[in-house]
Amino acid sequence: MKHLLKLRDLSREEILSILNLADQLKYERKSGVDQTGYLKGKTLGMIFQKSSTRTRVSFEVGMSDLGGRPLFLSSRDLQIGRGEPVQDTARVLSRMLDAIMIRTFDQEEVESLARYGTIPVINGLTDYCHPCQVLADLMTIREYKGSFKGLKLCFVGDGNNMANSLIVGAVRMGMKFSIACPKGYSPDAELVEWAKKEGEYFETESPEEAASDADVVYTDVWASMGQEEEREKRAAAFRGFCVDDAVMHAAKKDAIVLHCLPAHRGEEITAEVFEAHANEIFDEAENRLHAQKAVLCKVLR
Ligand code: CP
Ligand code: NVA
Repeated sequence: MKHLLKLRDLSREEILSILNLADQLKYERKSGVDQTGYLKGKTLGMIFQKSSTRTRVSFEVGMSDLGGRPLFLSSRDLQIGRGEPVQDTARVLSRMLDAIMIRTFDQEEVESLARYGTIPVINGLTDYCHPCQVLADLMTIREYKGSFKGLKLCFVGDGNNMANSLIVGAVRMGMKFSIACPKGYSPDAELVEWAKKEGEYFETESPEEAASDADVVYTDVWASMGQEEEREKRAAAFRGFCVDDAVMHAAKKDAIVLHCLPAHRGEEITAEVFEAHANEIFDEAENRLHAQKAVLCKVLR
């Protein structure tokens, strides 16, 4: 695998191979196996144009676990933050680093880093998608449910970067995908068309209807990073698009709840549902580490 720019670039087999390696790396870490041979001497540059807790820590700890070196590059300090073109940044970093992880706004910036550079590029979230998160989500779903066969994944909330990547994850792994979102907040139109052709996609404005018989109920914030000034408008548009007892009642009895975090209790999820499903949600957060290590091994070995 050369890059991880978006999940759709990966086949079902490639995704399964990452998940299998992530499971192995998780097992090894918990058994105290020395993993420093995997990426000995490799350096990962991590460019952050937006805040991060999980992505930064999972890549930083992951790289150290594997014997490599992580380099945190805040856009506040980089020349890229003062307008140096991404084409030049890509060519400079390619001569000093072994791979780049980037979190930014525009998907095109990630694609052009890969185009102009000569080293692997990993997408650590854009406005369009969040492939690293969904690999950890798929890993978690398989841990809880054993396989993906016949499962229904329901997303309640904004048709944002998370929804876009979850659609691809669901279609690739053969899960049904349903989403409840207000009018005007659907996922990417081109992706929706693709999902309808390639898999099972259902969209409604009723969270209960979307959650009917779901095995996995997923939600994310109403206002993503970069949309802070839309907070009020979105709070009004999304009122009721909340994973609450009624939604969980519609889902299967043994449904799990996932949230990429950070969560806003009382908005997209009630505090009660969040705490009742904290085991799954924090296993999911932990799995970022194992899944990201698997991605690093795939692009750097
Ligand atoms: N879920 C996720 O990507 O978290 P961070 O924004 O903290 O990295
Ligand atoms: N949709 C959220 C995801 C955060 C991990 C955002 O982009 O802010």
